[in-house]
Amino acid sequence: MNVTWELELATEIHVQPTVEQLTDHMSEQQRQAFRDKIQRYIQKPDRDLILAVRGPEVLGLVCVIDQAELPPGLSVENMGYLKNFASGTQLLVHPSFRGRGIGSSLHIHAESWARKRGLPGYWFITHRMAHWYERDFGYVTIASIEVEGVKKIVMAKKFD
Ligand SMILES: CC(C)(COP(=O)(O)OP(=O)(O)OC[C@H]1O[C@@H](n2cnc3c(N)ncnc32)[C@H](O)[C@@H]1OP(=O)(O)O)[C@@H](O)C(=O)NCCC(=O)NCCS
Repeated sequence: MNVTWELELATEIHVQPTVEQLTDHMSEQQRQAFRDKIQRYIQKPDRDLILAVRGPEVLGLVCVIDQAELPPGLSVENMGYLKNFASGTQLLVHPSFRGRGIGSSLHIHAESWARKRGLPGYWFITHRMAHWYERDFGYVTIASIEVEGVKKIVMAKKFD
């Protein structure tokens, strides 16, 4: 199936369709938490929520944050390295639309959002997709952390 999509900035009107269309796999409790996060991403002035859309359908999203708080437990060296970097969170593509480049386009857009603000790099936390970020985007793992009992890694890239 050939899919085309556009990237756009989310506003209040997107909250309901985003929650309806991207939470099939979630419990009611997870869905509520997801809705709260989406609201926060739209309302807070230091971040933008970027959506991948096909007409009225929401196919994926990523939230980009201008200098998010760093995770606890990082070394002083890493804290210095990540100083002023932008951060990404919640990169997600609907399971039926994966493997078509939507996730890459969202991530590339997030990086350019950071570059346009003059921020020196980009970091995020992941636990499954490290190989993808290394291979396709040149990220390196800078630390391992535990979030709510789950082992995750912090990946980062300094822009050229
Ligand atoms: C991670 C995630 C966002 C990737 O989204 P996606 O739309 O599938 O991403 P892409 O299609 O751009 O790239 C993913 C893979 O498809 C491949 N691909 C890219 N374009 C493609 C295309 N046109 N046709 C087929 N495959 C393609 C990529 O090379 C990559 O291959 P890999 O599986 O060998 O690494 C998605 O899998 C997801 O939502 N996962 C659950 C949440 C998650 O893990 N988020 C990341 C946490 S930081």
